[in-house]
Amino acid sequence: MTNIILSAIVAVSENQVIGADNGLPWRLSNDLKWFKKTTMGKPIIMGRKTFQSLPGLLPGRTSIVISRDPDFTAEGAIITHSLESALEIGNETAKQMKTNEVVIIGGAEIFHQCLDQLDRIYLTRVHATIDGDTFFPDFNTSEWREISNEFHPKSEKDMYDHNFIVLEREQAL
Ligand SMILES: NC(=O)c1ccc[n+]([C@@H]2O[C@H](COP(=O)([O-])OP(=O)(O)OC[C@H]3O[C@@H](n4cnc5c(N)ncnc54)[C@H](OP(=O)(O)O)[C@@H]3O)[C@@H](O)[C@H]2O)c1
Repeated sequence: MTNIILSAIVAVSENQVIGADNGLPWRLSNDLKWFKKTTMGKPIIMGRKTFQSLPGLLPGRTSIVISRDPDFTAEGAIITHSLESALEIGNETAKQMKTNEVVIIGGAEIFHQCLDQLDRIYLTRVHATIDGDTFFPDFNTSEWREISNEFHPKSEKDMYDHNFIVLEREQAL
């Protein structure tokens, strides 16, 4: 198998908001489908708060949840206590799942810590200015190459116009 790459998937408003009140500040059904398609069959790494913001375990994926709380448990998820151990477990799990990708799904605390290690970012740009409390970190766009970029207009099920953008680190792969 080729090298395992580390990706992040995130939906970000034009003012860098990714969350509000421990939830998503928009309804974008198309983005949820994109998220499902992109993460299916892969290990996904997330912070404890993001895990608790989800309706439950995401089927077809292995959830690796990072918490500093030694007593935190979540049935069906793998709990780790550092980003480093989450990445190690992610790589091992990817091999078992016969995929070459580990995907970090947030939230902001985890994105901040892993940004320098990412090979790929699946970035949904949500065309709105949102009042939120959680932000995607600034990153140096000159280090990244755009692999694809698709525009999707707002619709009955999608509150805002949005683009699905895939970025890869210039020297990666
Ligand atoms: N728009 C998007 O694509 C997107 C994606 C994901 C999340 N979100 C949103 O983002 C918000 C949640 O993000 P957040 O930044 O508040 O929280 P988060 O990153 O999901 O989780 C933070 C928690 O992770 C644990 N943690 C973080 N770094 C750690 C480390 N180095 N070692 C051990 N544990 C560590 C801690 O858990 P303990 O407190 O248990 O120790 C910490 O409180 C929500 O609003 C969510 O809806 C949006």
